[in-house]
Amino acid sequence: MSFPDGFLWGSATAAHQIEGNNLASDFWALEHVANSRFAEPSGDACDHYRLFRQDIALMAELGLNSFRFTIEWARVEPEDGFHSAAAIAHYRDVLEACHAAGVVPVVTLHHFSSPNWLMKLGSWEYAGTPERFAAYCRTVMTELGDLIPYVCTINEANIGRVIRRIIAGGGEGRRAPVEQAPVGLGDGPVEAPAARADEKVSGGQTIFLSAFTDEAFDVITRAHVAAREAIREVSPNSKVGITLALQDVQALPGGEKAADAVWAELFEDFLPAMAGDDFVGVQNYSRIRVGADGVAPLPEGAEVTQMGYEFYPEALGNVLRRAASAGLPMMVTENGIATDDDARRVEFIRLALDGVERCLADGVDVRGYLHWTTLDNFEWMHGFKPKFGLIAVDRATQRRTPKDSARYLGAIARRNALG
Ligand code: BGC
Repeated sequence: MSFPDGFLWGSATAAHQIEGNNLASDFWALEHVANSRFAEPSGDACDHYRLFRQDIALMAELGLNSFRFTIEWARVEPEDGFHSAAAIAHYRDVLEACHAAGVVPVVTLHHFSSPNWLMKLGSWEYAGTPERFAAYCRTVMTELGDLIPYVCTINEANIGRVIRRIIAGGGEGRRAPVEQAPVGLGDGPVEAPAARADEKVSGGQTIFLSAFTDEAFDVITRAHVAAREAIREVSPNSKVGITLALQDVQALPGGEKAADAVWAELFEDFLPAMAGDDFVGVQNYSRIRVGADGVAPLPEGAEVTQMGYEFYPEALGNVLRRAASAGLPMMVTENGIATDDDARRVEFIRLALDGVERCLADGVDVRGYLHWTTLDNFEWMHGFKPKFGLIAVDRATQRRTPKDSARYLGAIARRNALG
């Protein structure tokens, strides 16, 4: 295989899914309400908050040279306006461990979970959120920006659009159960809203995943732009981007117009907010096929992953070609498969990378491939059942066991890094 020098090879994670005990977050609260929709709470998760050194060392040992992880807003700012020096020092340790191991950190500043206090204000439908988010980003990047070469402001800024389509009946395509679930967040009460007098308080329990109104689109895109500006001011050497959930939207005969409309909702609508970014994070898991009547059912006999969508690794190359129209360098910030059969993961990676390589040969600007995900982890509403990890985790002992797929990806990384 031929990949450019400096290509990033690694895996991606999110704080809430691996760190454990993300106590001040909205997700933690919703996992613990009566009749919670979560299959189980995140608990200690993979205890990565404590075990990060060993996890980073293991990745480096496997041959990976990059690691995407979140600096968790709910830890850095557990109360509105209070920035925890201890949390920032922790993430400094994580970043330093990456650099010491020769692992390039790709930091995400928001990956679905937010501080609990933000939920009380109306979360990502609250007009004051962009300002709050940008202030948090400014703090993190002032303190840690010198150690952060790549920073993603918001993970899957367009996920609300995916969820909205699913709810509207426009296609189960990918992961319907997870993405629908956050919308009716259990019946139990979350603490009574305690907002400042000048704030608009949302009556509902909105979180990032249930924010899919036009108002939310406006809040999320403004938050990205405000964050980018703040980051540029305090850490001009960090490359900034957003990440988007990009399904390979394929038109069936007669469905061309409808398919174009889906792609516009997922991608083109975000272009104005992305103008001026340094890169775009492309996140892809499968395809959807769109006919005149909307999203078509999975093809007869399709291989289906644990998440209910089609095994279709060819989607990644297709999406990269299409997303190249933004004119920005691209980084694959997520691509993966939930399966207990690790041989299928190896095959998934092989076919996905084949697509990336063919893109590169055609001049498509791809800078890295970060597989989702490092460890078997907390898959949001589904709990720990779906297995997306390159590395298995025994949650009773927190023992890590790399799978063949981890060695497979690591060997490719190593071969290419050696040229
Ligand atoms: C999210 C991850 C999630 C993964 C697999 C992506 O949408 O960014 O947090 O675990 O998909 O479902």
